[in-house]
Amino acid sequence: MITTSIIPSSQEEAIDLLEKALSKGDLAEIRIDLVKDLNLLELSRRFDKKRIIVTNRKKDEGGLFEGNESQRILPLIDAIKIGFGFVDIEFSSIDSLDALLLKKREFNSDTNVIGSYHNFEDTPSNLNEILSEVKNKGQDIIKIVTFANDISDNLIIRNLLLSKKDGNKKIISFLMGERGEVSRVLCCSWGSFTSYAPLKNLAATAPGQIPIEILKDVYRVNSINEKFDIYGLVGNPVKESIGYYVHNKLFSYYNIDAVYLNFLVDDINKFMSAFKNQFKGLCVTMPFKEKVIPYLDTIDQMALKIGAINTIKVTKEGLLGTNTDWIGAVYSIEKMSQIKNKKVLILGAGGAGKAIAFGIANRQGQILISNRDPKKAVELSEKIGGETILWEDRNKVDFDILINATKIGMAPEENSCPMEDSFFERDLSGITVFDAVYSPIFTKLLLRSKKQGAKISNGLDMYIGQAMAQFELWTGIKPSHEETDRFSREAIKLRG
Ligand SMILES: NC(=O)c1ccc[n+]([C@@H]2O[C@H](COP(=O)([O-])OP(=O)(O)OC[C@H]3O[C@@H](n4cnc5c(N)ncnc54)[C@H](OP(=O)(O)O)[C@@H]3O)[C@@H](O)[C@H]2O)c1
Repeated sequence: MITTSIIPSSQEEAIDLLEKALSKGDLAEIRIDLVKDLNLLELSRRFDKKRIIVTNRKKDEGGLFEGNESQRILPLIDAIKIGFGFVDIEFSSIDSLDALLLKKREFNSDTNVIGSYHNFEDTPSNLNEILSEVKNKGQDIIKIVTFANDISDNLIIRNLLLSKKDGNKKIISFLMGERGEVSRVLCCSWGSFTSYAPLKNLAATAPGQIPIEILKDVYRVNSINEKFDIYGLVGNPVKESIGYYVHNKLFSYYNIDAVYLNFLVDDINKFMSAFKNQFKGLCVTMPFKEKVIPYLDTIDQMALKIGAINTIKVTKEGLLGTNTDWIGAVYSIEKMSQIKNKKVLILGAGGAGKAIAFGIANRQGQILISNRDPKKAVELSEKIGGETILWEDRNKVDFDILINATKIGMAPEENSCPMEDSFFERDLSGITVFDAVYSPIFTKLLLRSKKQGAKISNGLDMYIGQAMAQFELWTGIKPSHEETDRFSREAIKLRG
């Protein structure tokens, strides 16, 4: 169950936002801190009051309400009298909690009183003790929300919820902060009464909050159960990645009980030991593509040569590491041109450059490498049996296929181009130009090359090719290119 939270600043806005919140979420939490002209009776007549949580949070509890304590609880008492589904108050305001429980009995109301514990600093490891302390305060539902400083804090919430799953008290628990995103997706499957989400189009969401549409339609929170297999992206940062959208949509499209999460990791060692038995497969991105190698039991030949891992699968033999970046690149280029015996100039000798170079070598292309830092170009050329081209000479050489594996042309510097103006004076018909950059999809390099007659292939196709290979490795299902392409474009549009 998902609760959509709203913080209106007037009765009119409360009506507007409740309409939206209730149409998207199962419950709506209205924070009335700022509503001076609040009319709860009107709200109860317009909406299904049983699906509404009313709360009024004061400043020292992370809210915005500025009045005194008796002014604060007055509307909550009203909400109980009217019979709203829920009111929420902090355990730290214990007298107010008692007063609300007293009113509930006095009015013979069936409103559920939520007693909540928030910690905006961290996630104490003794949450169980905190839970035991607050368990008998008389509230109907216990809410424990803490701040995640490390990805492993999600497991503290998981253990807390799983240990109380059969208890008679309903518990709501999840984490704040970007490192706590996992808990917002999985808390219900661990036994939380609900997860919380903001409305997507509302002002900037706090880090870690996942908009209701994404939580519901992409992560499928209301369908996830303990039996779902867990996949995800390990990296830092992870929030720009579109994988969460593409893989979750593919799982849903193929009716696979699995979910893909963003793991924002600071310490790979800590993550691999804490989460080892939690996932079935991982994508790996910067800065862990090389650092993850010591944790693997097997590495396939290509990944070993490339020296970087972008995909992990749990097998009977342990953790298998592989690299699908080269598969994606070769897949995109081969749509336009055969590679065998073609002269291929690769710009860039970073992670993508290396993977692509080994892919081209695998298809027996003749490789030329050019990189801003010449040492890296020489190192890669030697490994691969290619030739090094000085960065300043890249515009002068002849080739059949040009590959950009640098960051040049990538947003926000989409006006930059890895080739100089003189290159675009050439007739490029017969040449294929591939750009690994996929944000934007059509880079300046591709657009200018196309104008001169080149066949072009973009980085989105590489992304799609490598994501399809990951999905097939994990599930045994070769996903349709059309659907993977559609989901990738939707994700890019959503990211803006
Ligand atoms: N489509 C896909 O699926 C996919 C997958 C992976 C990567 N990519 C894209 O590929 C690009 C490279 O990623 P990566 O993972 O290889 O990054 P990386 O390991 O950090 O390497 C960056 C590369 O870009 C070069 N570079 C950066 N700024 C430059 C500049 N101003 N002038 C000249 N060279 C410059 C670096 O040269 P130095 O060595 O001299 O610093 C290096 O070769 C990115 O745009 C990334 O989004 C796409």
